[in-house]
Amino acid sequence: MNQRPTIVVLAGDGIGPEIVESTRKVLDRIAEFDYVEHLIGGISIDETGKALTDAVTEACRACDAVLLGAVGGPKWDEAVAADPSAPRPEQGLLGIRKALGLYANLRPVKPSPALIGSSPLKEDRITGTDLLVVRELTGGIYFGDSGRDGDSAHDDCFYSVPEITRIAKTAFEAARQRSVGRETGPRVTSVDKANVMETSRLWRETVKRVANDYPDVELDHMLVDNTAMQLVSRPADFDVIVTENLFGDILSDEAAMLTGSLGMLPSASIGAEGEPGLFEPVHGSAPDIAGQGIANPLATMLSAAMMLRYGLDMPEGADRIEDAVDAVLASGLRTPDLFTGSAGEVEAGTGQVTDAVLSELDRMEA
Ligand code: NAD
Ligand code: IPM
Ligand code: MN
Repeated sequence: MNQRPTIVVLAGDGIGPEIVESTRKVLDRIAEFDYVEHLIGGISIDETGKALTDAVTEACRACDAVLLGAVGGPKWDEAVAADPSAPRPEQGLLGIRKALGLYANLRPVKPSPALIGSSPLKEDRITGTDLLVVRELTGGIYFGDSGRDGDSAHDDCFYSVPEITRIAKTAFEAARQRSVGRETGPRVTSVDKANVMETSRLWRETVKRVANDYPDVELDHMLVDNTAMQLVSRPADFDVIVTENLFGDILSDEAAMLTGSLGMLPSASIGAEGEPGLFEPVHGSAPDIAGQGIANPLATMLSAAMMLRYGLDMPEGADRIEDAVDAVLASGLRTPDLFTGSAGEVEAGTGQVTDAVLSELDRMEA
């Protein structure tokens, strides 16, 4: 890595610019970066007519890592409702994932001890939860043929053995890494709908075959409907969950609530070795709270920590951001999405929470 890594910043829509601005301040406390700002999503449609331009894709290909806020909003949904051929902000996000070959999306779910009371789930269910959703990100129904014909529509789901093999390897490798220094051995739960879908039967078969190369990793298979239930019933029993694109999208939003809020969950999207990764919160553009200064910036800050760890080989910086976030939560400061009114909690806006993280980083430095 060169001295000053280049980060392409795609702030996007809704709360995207607010949470990205906060996160840049945090990154600036860690090291010097060269930021290159570009448009994606709705704002790019407004300026260029497309949700993602070739110039932006090229800039992303040439950088060391991409930091993304969020895309989408009612304004562009309405335009599509009026004209189904109108561009959609989400095409920008799917386009950049595909163009950079980011097939593995890592979504770690580990509730901060200070937030156990913020989750709608009971404390005894959440305690000990530390799981990783490994979501396949460039295949499945998201990228299959789709279309409309009169009063019918279709979205095809397609998976190939190589696509399943590489994401399964990512999951087994991640499980191994996570178990280092831990008492319990590595475990992978592969989630599918093999009782109904042919792609799921191919998924299960392929994951089983890959597992032969990882005899130290315990593997089980679970149907997605059952997994949705088990995630809220006994989340602490999961280690690594590997699943296809659509199931991973849905299960990770569900799992986010174990941490207290969707505003807490970070993600890393990784492709081929040596290619830039993309780092973004799991949540969307939250149009209902955009522009109010109350968005939770922590998922984006934690995504930046994942960027330092997985994308820029700066693990100490990642640790510092994560420790600072934990310390701020322990102090009781909460954006409204996390605020329950319990004793010791102080409700705060995006700016105040950001300043607290910055002060914490300064304090740790001193
Ligand atoms: P959303 O994740 O934007 O919001 C769901 C709920 O969670 C809302 O009540 C919102 O206020 C809240 N929330 C989300 N992030 C928050 C944060 N950081 N702080 C506080 N509260 C937060 O999902 P949605 O409302 O279904 O979608 C809105 C738009 O975002 C849609 O256009 C959708 O396509 C898009 N979207 C984009 C991404 C992305 O860019 N990665 C992800 C999901 C949804
Ligand atoms: C996510 C989002 C995206 C997805 C949308 C906005 C295309 O929900 O990153 O989880 O479905 O992958
Ligand atoms: Mn999603």
